[in-house]
Amino acid sequence: MRAVVIDRFGGPEELHEVTDRAVPQPRSGQLQVKVIATGLNPLDYKQRDGSSKSMAHLTAGDFPIALGRECSGTISALGPGVTGWEVGEEVMAFCNDVTDGSYAEYVCTPADMTTRIPAGGDPVKLAGLPIAGFTAWTSVHERARVQAGEKVLIHGGSGGVGQFLVQLCVRAGAEVWATASTRNQDRLRELGVHHPIDYRTQDWQTLVPQVDVVLDTVYFGTFEPSLDHLRPGGRIVVLPSLADLTPATKRGIEASIPGLHPMPAVMDELARDVTSGALDLEIAEVLPLSEVARAHRMLEEGHTRGKLIATL
Ligand SMILES: NC(=O)c1ccc[n+]([C@@H]2O[C@H](COP(=O)([O-])OP(=O)(O)OC[C@H]3O[C@@H](n4cnc5c(N)ncnc54)[C@H](OP(=O)(O)O)[C@@H]3O)[C@@H](O)[C@H]2O)c1
Repeated sequence: MRAVVIDRFGGPEELHEVTDRAVPQPRSGQLQVKVIATGLNPLDYKQRDGSSKSMAHLTAGDFPIALGRECSGTISALGPGVTGWEVGEEVMAFCNDVTDGSYAEYVCTPADMTTRIPAGGDPVKLAGLPIAGFTAWTSVHERARVQAGEKVLIHGGSGGVGQFLVQLCVRAGAEVWATASTRNQDRLRELGVHHPIDYRTQDWQTLVPQVDVVLDTVYFGTFEPSLDHLRPGGRIVVLPSLADLTPATKRGIEASIPGLHPMPAVMDELARDVTSGALDLEIAEVLPLSEVARAHRMLEEGHTRGKLIATL
């Protein structure tokens, strides 16, 4: 099959196309999916350069590897013992095999982390939903437990995850402060942010009061100062998984980093909400998989607005 692979950890130039990669076969509990599109995430470049802890166990013998942690596509085979799914159904899914990811024509996905595309849903757009949508949902509802009337500060409100964080907090009835650069201030307002902050021209520390919750997609330069803005009983959720939470826990502040786990009902609801327009999933750009190295460079610059998606 066709795939974009890396032969070693390194820069975006390591990503190259092959046409003779073996099609992965579904194991117990897995679905084989013929990929339509793959969502791109900062995690992809951290896995590409080897800095992600998730790649620490790999050895030279594991290469070449295909990256890609989320996709949409059509079910092409069921693993042994898998029931409740039909070949031909359109789905979106998390792809958790770090050597055989979704930068490929076929990928195997855990059935319990795969979601049917709702009627009328756009599979290309929905390829960008699983990671950003679920991470935002679990951050807001499981980790921070945001309640109506609470004050919430969101660092990075215009990014892939940030836009969902904003919308979910606004929907929960919170009062939201969110940061982004100058060009994204209108987007913050469109999403319902009550107090947009331009981190390039304004000092958020002088504008943000004591809040109940901080949702921090940036971490570098924002995490420690945010602790001074939390009320007693406040919660902070940090997105980058390499974050050191010790400065918070030392002060007795509840701090956590979200992870991915199966919650099929939540994924169904998110897919329906994006399809109906109840949640807006902004697409920064849809590009062909052959240009994925360019997307990695954009992600590494850290200023994409919404999601980048690659089509097969
Ligand atoms: N723990 C998990 O399971 C998990 C899941 C998903 C993502 N993540 C991590 O969460 C982080 C964000 O992911 P993402 O997909 O949302 O990234 P993204 O789509 O690349 O978004 C980055 C956003 O950060 C904003 N930004 C950059 N510097 C900023 C600053 N100093 N202050 C405020 N905003 C700033 C940018 O806005 P401007 O252009 O306006 O600057 C941009 O919109 C990444 O580190 C990612 O690896 C973790």
